[in-house]
Amino acid sequence: MELSPLLADANIEIGNIEHLSFASKIIESYKNAKIIVLADENTYRFCWNKLIVAVEFLQTAELIIIPPGEENKTLDTCSNVWEILSNYKVGRHDLIINLGGGVITDTGGFIASVFKRGIHFINIPTTLLGMIDASFGGKTGVNIENYKNQLGVFNNPIATYIDKSFLYTLPTNHIKNGFAEIIKHALINDTILWERIVKIKELSEIFSDDIFKRALKVKIEIVNADPKELGLRKILNFGHTIGHAIEGHFFNFYRLEHGHAVALGMIAESYIATKIDKLSMNEFRQIINFIKKYFLIPSIAKTEITEIVELMKNDKKNYEGKIQCALIDKIGHCMYDQPIDEELITESLIFLFFSKHEV
Ligand code: GLY
Repeated sequence: MELSPLLADANIEIGNIEHLSFASKIIESYKNAKIIVLADENTYRFCWNKLIVAVEFLQTAELIIIPPGEENKTLDTCSNVWEILSNYKVGRHDLIINLGGGVITDTGGFIASVFKRGIHFINIPTTLLGMIDASFGGKTGVNIENYKNQLGVFNNPIATYIDKSFLYTLPTNHIKNGFAEIIKHALINDTILWERIVKIKELSEIFSDDIFKRALKVKIEIVNADPKELGLRKILNFGHTIGHAIEGHFFNFYRLEHGHAVALGMIAESYIATKIDKLSMNEFRQIINFIKKYFLIPSIAKTEITEIVELMKNDKKNYEGKIQCALIDKIGHCMYDQPIDEELITESLIFLFFSKHEV
């Protein structure tokens, strides 16, 4: 598995942050610039020290700390930070370093991309989800209430630095959050990765280089081929049409992690794929059994199904009023732009939340 040229193309480096080009890059290219580090309360507590030990120079950076969590991935958070940046007189040649998970890199990337029509930013993901998915590929943005990622721009960080030692500060639910995206990458594009992950005995095995780099490679290759999501990149949305709606539905009363929602979305969307005769029952069974080993199915009332379907009607991928999904037709291969009838989506949610999943 040759990854290095791909990493270089995507401006990603993996390793101990002290040994990466991070310090020299900011010292050489931004020595006269203002450097702002955007963190949340958790990454300030668990990751900031490691960063300033690795790069002493950052001790004088301006640190902006925002509250953690998806509920703060909002325009209000951006406005507060933009105001601080203005007060600091941050300009076009200055730099923002986003230190955190997907919420920080999405929000911080958007803040940087829009401020004064765009200033440079670097991502240092501290969660598995951030490392495998959110911190590179150019998607930045924030939510509007419980509609996910409704505002945003495509804009790439100057670089992404992945230091897996940050992962050891994470609770299990955060690891599972990223694991869902690894499962997704296997299901849409990599049967070898799938065969590898179904054999793991301990969740921590997913930090091993073979799994980690394979999962990364899937996204880098797809994003390189279609950076603006005009076609192929849409397969990275497998599990997300239904997953985002489930996540949005739970948003106001119970925190369902993004990865957990995507895992549920992958079961529901695989159900749809079997119903339209694309995916075999045998593979569907393997997918359900594997996902259920790691992710619980939450309880909901039947009436909530209509509310989840309603949320899907505002999905970015909809076309001519139709809900569209990326669907797998076999493990390791995915089709995009698949228009799905509302009735079938409802049926898939009933299967997901109200059946014993016997297929
Ligand atoms: N997270 C999906 C994508 O980057 O396209």
